[in-house]
Amino acid sequence: MRILMVCLGNICRSPLADGVMQDKIEKYNLSASVDSAGTSAYHIGEAPDSRSQKNALSHNIDLSNLRARQFVKSDFDNFDLIFAMDESNYRNILKLANSDSDRAKVKMLLNESHPNSNMEVPDPYFGGDQGFENVFQLIDEACEAIVKNHFS
Ligand code: 4NP
Repeated sequence: MRILMVCLGNICRSPLADGVMQDKIEKYNLSASVDSAGTSAYHIGEAPDSRSQKNALSHNIDLSNLRARQFVKSDFDNFDLIFAMDESNYRNILKLANSDSDRAKVKMLLNESHPNSNMEVPDPYFGGDQGFENVFQLIDEACEAIVKNHFS
């Protein structure tokens, strides 16, 4: 199972989701891979935001090797499950889809832990450290739910 986590900048939320999911893959020895991308080009090539890195490290997860990239159409071929952090990301990913099979891969991340709620992972970019910890908890819960929903 190839999993892609997507937000706007690929520097705050989706790198955290990438690191948390990678941690679950190792912890549960899952046959899976994970990557992340942003719908925008704003931060291409940048390392994750220092606040995401600091938060992840407080949970023993190292994001320092990740670099931001933009979501591209070929991601529909290279991934099985594509998780959007918010409704805007979701719509922008779907705009690039070419087929029903592409569209079927795209899901709201928090629907894994909160089915049919269409809840969003709030953008923590303009907030403080507490916003990043809140994002971490939401993502951690959702990644545990991915393990249950897609690997059992
Ligand atoms: P992310 O957060 O989508 O979770 O990576 C953001 C990062 C940068 C911007 C917005 C959100 N920005 O406007 O530059």
